[in-house]
Amino acid sequence: MGQRSRSKRCCGWCIVLVVVALVAIVLVITLTNKIGLSEPVLSPVPGSPGTVQKKYGVALKVAMQFFDVQRSGKLVNNKISWRGDSALKDGSQAKLDLSKGMYDAGDHLKFGFPMAFTATVLSWAILEYGDQMQTVNQLKPAQDSLKWITDYLINAHPSKDVLYVQVGDPAADHKCWDRPETMTAKRPLTQVNTSSPGTEVAAETAAAMASASLVFKSIDAKYSSSLLEHAHQLFTFADKHRGSYSHSIPEVQKFYNSTGYGDELLWAASWLYHATGDQSYFDYVTGKNGKAFAKWGTPTWFSWDNKLAGTQVLLSRVSFFGSKEIANSENLQNYRKSAEAVMCGLLPKSPTATSSRTESGLIWVSEWNSLLHPVASSFLAVLYSDYMLTSRTAKLSCDGDSFGPSDLRKFAISQADYVLGNNPMEMSYLVGYGEKYPEYVHHRGASIPEDATTGCSDGWEWLESTEPNPNVAVGAVVGGPALNETYVDSRNNSMQGEPSTYNTALIVGLLSGLVTSSSVAKSFT
Ligand SMILES: *[C@@H]1O[C@H](CO)[C@@H](O)[C@H](O)[C@H]1NC(C)=O
Ligand SMILES: *[C@@H]1O[C@H](CO)[C@@H](O)[C@H](O)[C@H]1NC(C)=O
Ligand SMILES: *[C@@H]1O[C@H](CO)[C@@H](O)[C@H](O)[C@H]1NC(C)=O
Ligand SMILES: *[C@@H]1O[C@H](CO)[C@@H](O)[C@H](O)[C@H]1NC(C)=O
Repeated sequence: MGQRSRSKRCCGWCIVLVVVALVAIVLVITLTNKIGLSEPVLSPVPGSPGTVQKKYGVALKVAMQFFDVQRSGKLVNNKISWRGDSALKDGSQAKLDLSKGMYDAGDHLKFGFPMAFTATVLSWAILEYGDQMQTVNQLKPAQDSLKWITDYLINAHPSKDVLYVQVGDPAADHKCWDRPETMTAKRPLTQVNTSSPGTEVAAETAAAMASASLVFKSIDAKYSSSLLEHAHQLFTFADKHRGSYSHSIPEVQKFYNSTGYGDELLWAASWLYHATGDQSYFDYVTGKNGKAFAKWGTPTWFSWDNKLAGTQVLLSRVSFFGSKEIANSENLQNYRKSAEAVMCGLLPKSPTATSSRTESGLIWVSEWNSLLHPVASSFLAVLYSDYMLTSRTAKLSCDGDSFGPSDLRKFAISQADYVLGNNPMEMSYLVGYGEKYPEYVHHRGASIPEDATTGCSDGWEWLESTEPNPNVAVGAVVGGPALNETYVDSRNNSMQGEPSTYNTALIVGLLSGLVTSSSVAKSFT
């Protein structure tokens, strides 16, 4: 009995306690909602990646395969059934092995300037998001693809002040429509040297090698230090013999014209600073070269030609995570403020939002390769958002209005989703992803059946054919839609329908950042 009545009394107390607890919980929820604490702005914290966002994981696996499609040379573990060995003799006239590397786009040229940029972006993606790539087994493929390019770049730099920057003659190559496996056009080499300098291409190659040296540091120390040695030499060559390759070799202007080399010098020095911790590189970017080239405060678009926005975000990393002493440097703060200006331009609700957008919100800057800018910008936005999260920085101020890391991530997701099919054409612009994607991609290898025998010029029937490509250029990010958001899926429409390796590197970075609820490591080393 006694026992029973005690327990009854206890139960009465239990009810009171439960009610009080419930009231308290409701109060806390209401309050935190009011002051905005319930938004998961500052979590998650660094550590192992969270739940996989299936869609982005699937898209990442698709995108990564384009690097296999674009491989030149003797293929190892080839995963693309319609590809085979090609360009085995590239470089032989200079007693060099330039057989590896990647074809640039739909043709068979190896352009060093955008190829090096592809490698730098891919390294950056691996350094920030290698853990996320690993959750969907894409880390090894990413490292292998990177090495396929850096093996080539090492061979393209046979002595201190000589860098081969192109294999193939665009005029001769463009007369043909053939598969890389059977191409017959001559493969001349183009170099930069002290009498014909190429500061931007040498500096971009230095950036590629410095960033890749970090990727391979724990995997292959010898390879990593060799990359770093090349990076040092190339940076010195670029800096001491200043001149644009567009000036030294005017023929390059038709394809990858450079509008200046100051951005590449800062970008390369920033990567060398990350790779070595050497103060002289920090002084380089914050000293007189920074003043001369950084255009602080002016937002720019990140691309294979212009590395300023990328440099600003990369150096913001130092301001977020570096020692106090370094982080307080006034000019480092200028880089960070410039990165903030870039971010504020991207956020659609910011007072300084760029008007370069389509009606449904895709960043749109140029009609050729229109997806380059939205994808490149979104990669930077997801990085910046993660720097804010990891450093527990809650707010970004845009002309008085406040935004959080989740706003930047939302922007990046909106652009990624657009590319993956959430657009007026209801079409995925990532080939091989989703139900509907371009079938007439401007890509020679994809357009010609594996068993067709074509020479240089009798392959044109495959360009002109009205049938879809017989092979899928899986992972290709095509040029993209027009400003009015239409897309003409025609094989001869190279403006909209030609993919490139750098588009793929950028989307690989973006998707890797979105694969899991994420954060970044505070240090690359
Ligand atoms: C230096 O490069 C230019 C441009 O590619 C080339 O014409 C010239 O032959 C090169 N110089 C040497 C010594 O090879
Ligand atoms: C290449 O860029 C330079 C520098 O911006 C410019 O003067 C030149 O007209 C460009 N060339 C072409 C073919 O667009
Ligand atoms: C959309 O823009 C393209 C390129 O400017 C143009 O050729 C096409 O006619 C436009 N389509 C519509 C429906 O306005
Ligand atoms: C493809 O486009 C090019 C450049 O616009 C043009 O010269 C060529 O005639 C076109 N070929 C076909 C088959 O439409």
